[in-house]
Amino acid sequence: MTAQIIDGNAVAKQLRTEVAQRTAALKTKGITPGLAVILVGEDPASKVYVGKKVQACEEAGLHSVLERYEADLTEAALLARVEALNQDPSIHGILVQLPLPAHIDAHKVIESISPAKDVDGFHVASAGALMTGTPGFWSCTPYGCIKLLESTGMDLRGKHAVVIGRSNNVGKPMALMLLQKNATVTICHSATQNLKAHTLQADVIVAAVGRRDTLTADMVKPGAVVIDVGMNRNDQGKLCGDVDFANVKEVAGWITPVPGGVGPMTVTMLLVNTLEAAERLVA
Ligand code: GUN
Repeated sequence: MTAQIIDGNAVAKQLRTEVAQRTAALKTKGITPGLAVILVGEDPASKVYVGKKVQACEEAGLHSVLERYEADLTEAALLARVEALNQDPSIHGILVQLPLPAHIDAHKVIESISPAKDVDGFHVASAGALMTGTPGFWSCTPYGCIKLLESTGMDLRGKHAVVIGRSNNVGKPMALMLLQKNATVTICHSATQNLKAHTLQADVIVAAVGRRDTLTADMVKPGAVVIDVGMNRNDQGKLCGDVDFANVKEVAGWITPVPGGVGPMTVTMLLVNTLEAAERLVA
């Protein structure tokens, strides 16, 4: 059996088209969704990520502002900028790109963002809303994984989902979102004994560890849906995920590739969240 490929680029394109249509509709009511992105310092990967976020906004018709600061920006100055953006009516979403320089307390900065504008879903109020099933912003990468799972037509209700990884930004929110969708959820992590015994039970596996070949073909039940959040390099320097794609695709029912799977969804869900932050003003 060869798995069907979940095409993240295609799912992202479809969602971005819908965002563009809803953005155009909102503009007729006098509201242009606006995203502010703050980048502190010169981290090369962060520069690439924020560039993609701003470009995606432009393509979908959203307003975006990129604020760039030197690495020696003080924490107080950054907090003051966030507070100004909290008050700015043209801005519906605020994203402070991580990592921040070591002298800035990232937690304090994230908590200073108004929860109504926390389109990254990193604020404790957003995490609490996810946990309690109340309205709030779902963090973009796990939310994108939910959209990819839904694109297969699978109903998650009653399915056994195994999440490998327990990070605050992916593993933990992923597990809560799957629970919200009525899956039965197991979270595995670095201290889990006999990972394979867990993954072999799974109808859905989400690998979010950051280590290649974490999930191999012998660990997958035939027909399972496999979502690979990893972004690693193999010995040849080629981008790869946490899943041994070449062999797992011979066992799984559906699988995401790396690149072209989860990657395009993170920015897409940021657009969705920013649009919804603006739509809530007229709801
Ligand atoms: N750094 C890497 N990914 C992200 C993200 O999704 N949001 C923010 N704010 N910083 C990041």
